[in-house]
Amino acid sequence: MYDVLIFPDAARAERACAELIIGQVRRKPDSVLGLATGKTMISVYDALWKWENDFEVNFSRVKTFNLDEYLGVSPECRDSFHAYMRRSFFAMLNDPPRDVHILNGAAPDPESECREFERLIEEAGGIDLQLLGLGRNGHIGFNEPGSPFASRTRVAGLSDSTRLYYMKNLIELREPPFKALTMGIATIMEAREIVLLVTGAAKADALGKVVKGPVIEEVPGSALARHPKVRIIADEEAAAKLLAQGAKVIKFRAGAPRAG
Ligand code: GLP
Repeated sequence: MYDVLIFPDAARAERACAELIIGQVRRKPDSVLGLATGKTMISVYDALWKWENDFEVNFSRVKTFNLDEYLGVSPECRDSFHAYMRRSFFAMLNDPPRDVHILNGAAPDPESECREFERLIEEAGGIDLQLLGLGRNGHIGFNEPGSPFASRTRVAGLSDSTRLYYMKNLIELREPPFKALTMGIATIMEAREIVLLVTGAAKADALGKVVKGPVIEEVPGSALARHPKVRIIADEEAAAKLLAQGAKVIKFRAGAPRAG
């Protein structure tokens, strides 16, 4: 079941997403957060570290688990998701989380790296709030179309379109890897609460399929319909194809929410 919150522009959607995370950490300072990368999240992390002082929120006791990482790419590589997280968030905080978990793409035994990651999530008591972005083809994490809904953290192949998308963002690598380590769909679905942030016209088709269904493995994000507590935060461009079928859609305009 979804709550869909639609904002007039990406900046307001990103801000709402950051406020939700701040609220979670203030309520429970030792929250276990599932974190995502991608362009969409940059402004969310920007808001979080800028508000660290303003909102008197402290992230030091938070435990974090990132969704995914490229296979074969070391944490030191500037294109790794480790580097993204350092650059965009952790290094910017005065008091960063001390318990950070990101899959190591260069682990000698990737399969056991994935098993250990699952074990650590369990040991932490599970994820309280999972932040998710959406791929243009409906992927979540690096669970590409066709990924089993029962999948756990594992090595998974990247689709051609995903590799093409990432090609233009590379700093150090010549081309994106063919595989990644990613939380599985079942792993993501075990989070107690999920926030899916989707912005921009390029995501409108994918978000339409996620919200309207059907729930099929060809659209990995559609699995979220089976989760009891998912909030979708979107801007109007990304929400262009949405119908309020089975979802509570709230439109925000000039600060005042109204049913839409
Ligand atoms: C990527 C990542 C996801 C991310 C999503 C959206 O492939 N694996 O974690 O949330 O796709 O990325 P972007 O925000 O750049 O569109």
